[in-house]
Amino acid sequence: MFQNDLLKGKTIIVTGGGTGLGKAMATRCAQLGAQLVLTSRDLGHLEPTAEEMRKQGADVLTVPCDVRQPESVEAMVAKAIERFGKLDGLVNNAAGNFLCPSEKLSYNGFNSIVQIVLYGAFNCTTTVGRQFIKQGTGGTILSICTTYAWTGSAYVLPSAVAKSGVLIMTRSLAVEWARHKIRLNAIAPGPFPTEGAWSRLAPPGMGEEMIAKKIPAGRFGRHDELANLAAYLLADGSGYITGECVTIDGGEWLMGGEFNEYTKHDPTAVAQMMEMMRPKK
Ligand code: COA
Repeated sequence: MFQNDLLKGKTIIVTGGGTGLGKAMATRCAQLGAQLVLTSRDLGHLEPTAEEMRKQGADVLTVPCDVRQPESVEAMVAKAIERFGKLDGLVNNAAGNFLCPSEKLSYNGFNSIVQIVLYGAFNCTTTVGRQFIKQGTGGTILSICTTYAWTGSAYVLPSAVAKSGVLIMTRSLAVEWARHKIRLNAIAPGPFPTEGAWSRLAPPGMGEEMIAKKIPAGRFGRHDELANLAAYLLADGSGYITGECVTIDGGEWLMGGEFNEYTKHDPTAVAQMMEMMRPKK
């Protein structure tokens, strides 16, 4: 899909880069020539992922980092600069989420998710943004958002509130930092199966039912599809796109459209029903 040197020479930080979608995006960026800084609270996941990438020829630095702590983020960025000399991209991917009836949610439960998702993205974005401004080179910040950032969603209140904050941060800074040649965009993925998200958000056996009912494309997303979108938005060729949130969900979030239910029935029966309703001349 891309030339192999699309991201050559770029240094990109991916938070939560050891597993799941973070790993998929980091791996794709490395294949396209980028140097990677992978961060996570859990070093146990980071090093094996980095080793896998190094075996394919990638230059990868792993740094333990708790995105909730500004000092931890600053130390991580300092290590990245020490190793690579400059930064070109950040992917705010680290997240936390769980299903919970909101009347049962504790203060700590709410705080825990908002700290990781919103404060984590703020800490990384402002620290890396300051570095971009200091370098004078500009840079790209990509945040993993969600389609319920604009619709809201039952049972994931802290995540919905935090992700919508991340989206608005993206749009606010896209304007404020355009003068520094910094672009900020977001991706709103629909269902892309990962162990982390699925174990927390999809009760066993729900997958097939969900595909049939909710996704017009009739399937889940593939990690390489998301990774290609991320690579495109991080590359110079998308230089005029900023403040945008690109949805990649097989049409899932649009299923709320008034008459979309009809698509779930037998197409012949639906066409007959519509013909019967047609006024006769
Ligand atoms: N339902 C209700 N409350 C929950 C919960 C659940 N499923 N899971 C955690 N909580 C509450 C805890 O009870 C605690 O509140 P309390 O002190 O009032 O009891 C609070 O959240 C913090 O939990 P804790 O486990 O101490 O937080 P943590 O910061 O170590 O963990 C989580 C953060 C909860 C988000 C954890 O699931 C995590 O680390 N996830 C990271 C990966 C992830 O979520 N990936 C999916 C992304 S889509």
